[in-house]
Amino acid sequence: MNTLSNASKASNTNDKQNVLLEAKNLSKHYSVGQGLFKPKATAKALDGISFVLTAGKTLAVVGESGCGKSTLARQITMIEPPTGGELWMDGANIAHADHATLKRVRPLVQMVFQNPYASLNPRKKVSAMLEEPLIINTKLSQVERSEKAQAMMAKVGLRPEHYNRYPHMFSGGQRQRVAIARALMLDPKIIVADEPVSALDVSIQAQVLNLLMDLQEASGVAYLFISHNLSVVEHIADDVLVMYLGKAVEHGSKEQIFSRPLHPYTKALLASTPRIDPAQRQQKMMLPGELPSPLAPPPGCSFNNRCPHAVDRCRQEVPLLQMFEGRLVACHRVAEIN
Ligand SMILES: Nc1ncnc2c1ncn2[C@@H]1O[C@H](COP(=O)(O)OP(=O)(O)OP(=O)(O)O)[C@@H](O)[C@H]1O
Ligand SMILES: [Mg+2]
Repeated sequence: MNTLSNASKASNTNDKQNVLLEAKNLSKHYSVGQGLFKPKATAKALDGISFVLTAGKTLAVVGESGCGKSTLARQITMIEPPTGGELWMDGANIAHADHATLKRVRPLVQMVFQNPYASLNPRKKVSAMLEEPLIINTKLSQVERSEKAQAMMAKVGLRPEHYNRYPHMFSGGQRQRVAIARALMLDPKIIVADEPVSALDVSIQAQVLNLLMDLQEASGVAYLFISHNLSVVEHIADDVLVMYLGKAVEHGSKEQIFSRPLHPYTKALLASTPRIDPAQRQQKMMLPGELPSPLAPPPGCSFNNRCPHAVDRCRQEVPLLQMFEGRLVACHRVAEIN
């Protein structure tokens, strides 16, 4: 792995040995048709994102709908190639890797999706779903595959009799356990979890989060954890990356972000999250207006049209992500308003 950039400085853990993945200035642009006779426009779904994922740690990615979280997930899981930037993993830049490298690296990153009803094949038994990755990627015998699948079921809290059941025979929480077990079958180094508990009953959410944390402690897997629910993020994250219109606006440790958010957008997000501890409650701050279209972001700071602190400079000049009070913030006025 080459030298670490600014993104690693925003990370809780600066242990370079344990860095599993480093994204540098990652971008993904989509060409979007705007209708008959109109020229195509470019949506910058991801616009220069940098971070590191460290063994045994969780980086949470938060931000409003449409800010580019799932697009980021698709780049990390190598479902689609990025438009620009670098993605270093296992000694290779997988953003521009050949087939052989991708084949080697792909099993190291697995994904858990939001909706376990849609992500599990209704026609396959749990046994087949768990053993399929082993058939494709290993030379294990049928008996060994079955043993491994059943051991994994026990790890995620499923019972032996669940082995021969179909997805429709499970509750939502159990289905998500099956999805987590499937993701872990090839001993991945990284799991990208895109809203993994949002579709679950609130009472089940904590169980699944605790399971994810236990599995991480046992295996050292790193999570890229995508969520719009900040209470969930506060429970599970080590570091937090706050995104707005494809860009990082603030990136630091969970403690920094939750106890003293510096970017006006982070503050607004936190203020809209219910907190139990009165000391942690932020002053209510409503964000005016909608998230602008990624096809036509405002000039300067893309948050300027909703920001209570915006001045002329914010409407003209794009703020850089810079170190301030030990974390990265992209705001021209960070020193004045905090
Ligand atoms: N294949 C595509 N073609 C064109 N635009 C796309 C494509 N995929 C995503 N986008 C656009 O990129 C932006 C980011 O989308 P993305 O799905 O990553 O958001 P998100 O943060 O995951 O939102 P949500 O919280 O609703 O899941 C959106 O404006 C979306 O319309
Ligand atoms: Mg999404």
